[in-house]
This record gives sequence, C-alpha cells and structure tokens, in this order.
Amino acid sequence: MLRFSAVRRATLVKVGRGVENITESASNSLLESLQNHGYCYIQHPFIQKSILDQLHRDCRIFFEQYVLNVPDTTGGTKRGNNKHNYNCSPLSEYELEGIRSPTGFRGYYRYVGASGLDDAIDCFSIGREDAADPAELRRNYYIQAGWEEQEYLPLINRRNPWDVLLNHVNTYPATEKGAPHFTGPNNNFMSDFRDMMVAYYELCSIVSIDVLRHISCGLGIRPSIPQGGFDPASEYDYNFFTSFHNKKDFDLQAKYYPQLGTASRVKQGVEIGNKQSPQNPDGVRVLRRKGAKTTPLVGEDTDDETGKSKESVVRLDTHKDLSTLTLLSQDALGGLEVWDEEKKDYVAVPVLEDALLVNAGLFLEKWTGGLIEATPHRVRTRSHHNNNSRCSIVFFALPNHDAKIEPLLQQDDNPAVDTQEGFYAGDMMPTP
Ligand SMILES: [Fe+2]
Repeated sequence: MLRFSAVRRATLVKVGRGVENITESASNSLLESLQNHGYCYIQHPFIQKSILDQLHRDCRIFFEQYVLNVPDTTGGTKRGNNKHNYNCSPLSEYELEGIRSPTGFRGYYRYVGASGLDDAIDCFSIGREDAADPAELRRNYYIQAGWEEQEYLPLINRRNPWDVLLNHVNTYPATEKGAPHFTGPNNNFMSDFRDMMVAYYELCSIVSIDVLRHISCGLGIRPSIPQGGFDPASEYDYNFFTSFHNKKDFDLQAKYYPQLGTASRVKQGVEIGNKQSPQNPDGVRVLRRKGAKTTPLVGEDTDDETGKSKESVVRLDTHKDLSTLTLLSQDALGGLEVWDEEKKDYVAVPVLEDALLVNAGLFLEKWTGGLIEATPHRVRTRSHHNNNSRCSIVFFALPNHDAKIEPLLQQDDNPAVDTQEGFYAGDMMPTP
C-alpha cells in the first residue's frame, strides 16, 4: 500500500510484449502519464527485479573496483559490493586510456558538471555489440548530409572498449585480508559484465520498441494515404516508430555518482589530466558541459516534511534527453527529479525497484509536435544520502541517424507545430 501511495504522481503501466499484447487502455495510460507527469513507470515481462539487481551490482563492481579503485571508508572490506568475491584489480592508467571515449559515446568517460571535479560522474557507454562494422549504422546519414569520408569516418569508426576490458588480467592478491571464501583467481568478471550489459541492451531494445508501439496506439496513428493525412478506416499503425529505430543504434549507459567530494581524490580518473598514450596521442579530454551555470556545490533548502533547512546538491543539472525514449533504472537511493509544471518546481521521482522509468526525449517531442514534451529533469542528492554513491543505468532509445523526423500532427491539430520542418535525426546528434 505504501509503495503505491508513493507512486501517486505517475502511473505504473504493464506493457505487453509484441503487437498482439497492446491494449488501448495501457497505451492511453502511458501517454497520459507522459503528458501529465513527464514520466511513467512500466513493467514488462522481460524486465525482472533480479536482472536489475545483478546489473546494478555488476556496474558498482566495475566502477568501484576497476575504474575508480574506491578506497574503503567504512572499516570493512572494500569488496563490500563484491558479493561474488570476484578477484578484481583496478585497470591500469594505460587500460583506462584505452577505453576512454573522447566523444562520450561508447566507452568510459567522466562527465564534469557545473560544480567542478568533486561531483564528477563516471559513465560507461555501450552500443550494438553485434554489428560487425558499427560505421555501417550511420554511414548513409553522413553521405546524404554531404560529409566527406575523412570527416565522418573518425566519428563513426569507434573503438571497442571490450577489446581492452576482456584482456585485463587481475593481479589482486588472493590473500587480501577480509576477502571471505576467496579461493583463487577469478578472472571472469569482465566477460560476465559484458554478457550482462549486452543482454540488457537487447532487452531494453525490445522493451523500447514495445513502448513506442503503445505510444503509436495512444496517439491513434494510422497508416497515411497517398493524398496525405491518415486513413481513418485503417487499424492503428502500431509500428509507425519501429522502422525509424530498426538499426537498433541505441546507447546504454551505466552512470556512477561517487560519494560527494570524493571524485577528485580517487586514485584514477581526472587526476590523470591530459596524459598521452598511443591510443590518445592528443591527451585526455574531460567533457565539460558548455555554458555551465555556477550552481553552488552545496545549496540550502527546506525539508518538505520537517520544515528544517537541509543541504542538498544538484549532481546533474537540468536537461532534456537526446533520445526518443529513455528507460531508467535507478538504485534504491533515487535522486531523480522532474519538473512539475503545476507546482512550478522539481519533484522527486520515487524509486520502484521492479519497474523501469520512462521519460520522453527530444525526438519524441519533435515527432509529436510538442504534444509529448521531453521531460526536463535533474539529479540531486540530499544530505542524508550524500554519504553514499549512486548508480543508475540509462538506456537511450535513439532513432537511426538517417531517420527523417517530421511532425506527425497537422498545424490545425496543434498550433505549437507552426512552421517546423522535417530533419534527419543525425542533424541533432552530437559531434565532437
Ligand atoms: Fe537525462
């Protein structure tokens, strides 16, 4: 009962697998929740709590023990999250360089927000791992947009971080104090982690297409007729969005928010500075948000319940996602806040551990002519949570680069569309 009272702000919708399991009531609930609250919870037969738990556990091990080598501050073993007693030794600086992604796409990168290095967020991104040549997914777009091959090839010929990660050899001493039940070398973590991430990418690809089908149904999209407009006599076109996403060129990101104030003191990461390596001859590029606002690192506000002032800090500033849909799994600490148009304020989004949170992204906003708005959101940690790190797993369902996005709604239906013209999804994608 408690759980559901906490969810009063947005709807929990059971999304069926496949076209045959779409219902109008689920589609309408999903659409209404996105429109009214900016987000929606979904349950899908492919998303089980056990999968999400394992994913969060593995992502924590990856960041805490391989990337950041987080020191033990609790007096216990630093393998606190490492329930399987994987034998983990941190990645070397050289290996870290090998997986670093200068564009923030595919591989490891560190996002430094407005507040400086102490609230930097560590991110690891994967894409379609089954594509023999990932460049093929985007080549068409760049050719038709008139790019020269030497300009676009460096952008789409990405490195594969798994080449480095799967070759990592653990050298952590097997006799580490406080490593219970540890009996010998266990070098399987990276291959298990890769399998987990790839499997979750596949699951989210399917779930996002099912959600898009529900949105097609909720919007009442029907096949278009040669004279223009939709054919009212036809059944709904559930797969309207599917063809624009059929290359499955999506982005799965694990994000780790280190305990506040520790990011610049961890052994690895930004301390490397502008180190050069064979794979990075120009040195490291720490991503900085353009036009960062000078948000204070620690701000004051008032607790809703007690009325007492408390400390809080925005870890990720207000933004809209560059995606069609975003599927989010937060850990139990939460931290996500969405803009509430009625309250004219940000409201915390409760965590449901067996459901995914769906946000609308900018591409869906463009497609629907603003009928479904991309959700402005941010991440904030409160004082009693600041002693903890936060982990979130974010799946961005993105259109094919060469998908032509034209507002679906006619001007008469939605004046907000005014003179918007079609564009290619790739036009909005970031380039370095
Ligand atoms: Fe976001």
